[in-house]
Amino acid sequence: MLRAGRLGGACALRLLLAAHTVAAFEPISVGIAIGAASALTGYLSYTDLYCRFAECCREEQPLNASALKQELEEKLFGQHLATEVILKALTGFKNNKNPKKPLTLSLHGWAGTGKNFVSQIVAENLHRKGLKSNFVHLFVSTLHFPHEQQIKLYQDQLQSWIRGNVSACASSLFIFDEMDKLHPGIIDAIKPFLDYYEQIDGVSYRKAIFIFLRQEEREKTSS
Ligand SMILES: *[C@@H]1O[C@H](CO)[C@@H](O)[C@H](O)[C@H]1NC(C)=O
Ligand SMILES: *[C@@H]1O[C@H](CO)[C@@H](O)[C@H](O)[C@H]1NC(C)=O
Repeated sequence: MLRAGRLGGACALRLLLAAHTVAAFEPISVGIAIGAASALTGYLSYTDLYCRFAECCREEQPLNASALKQELEEKLFGQHLATEVILKALTGFKNNKNPKKPLTLSLHGWAGTGKNFVSQIVAENLHRKGLKSNFVHLFVSTLHFPHEQQIKLYQDQLQSWIRGNVSACASSLFIFDEMDKLHPGIIDAIKPFLDYYEQIDGVSYRKAIFIFLRQEEREKTSS
């Protein structure tokens, strides 16, 4: 509720003007929305209104660092270093108007829940709908790329998906789970997108974010 109020702040204020829609909002979320809206520049448009209900890709959408910090600290109990690194990387990247390459985060060595929590929290803080967002893409090696003899197909497919999705939304988020089980050929297919190119075939990947999750060796043998 907090997050919805925050992201939709500007639009919620406008909705308040239409008295009959007010009832649709709980008092608490309205209160939060007003607080957040007053901090904004006051630019209200139909885009805001539209994006309150449909999902929009807003690459200039600032990251709420304090919300992300709070959530990481609450849910990743005891992972101070990880929290710090993730927070620093994401805020630095999102505050940079002109990044020279996409952000890549490699997370490894954690028990399953910790890793999944991180990608979920990051996804939700970047795109309101989190893992359900049209701009967040989760690939699980054993699920999406199971057959070694089809590597060529996977490579082509994945490259065209990354290209298509980043064309549609520059700030797309791609999460690759089970990196330790990912065929090297697939990794090769992703690599070009992670580099310092200004653009590839007219598409710039510099605002995209890639998260790679890897199980630590120790966990693999003990499970
Ligand atoms: C950022 O998140 C904090 C904590 O959830 C919230 O209090 C604050 O209003 C948010 N800021 C903006 C600009 O939305
Ligand atoms: C975006 O990625 C998804 C897989 O997550 C894929 O199904 C879809 O076709 C891609 N969209 C484009 C426009 O390539």
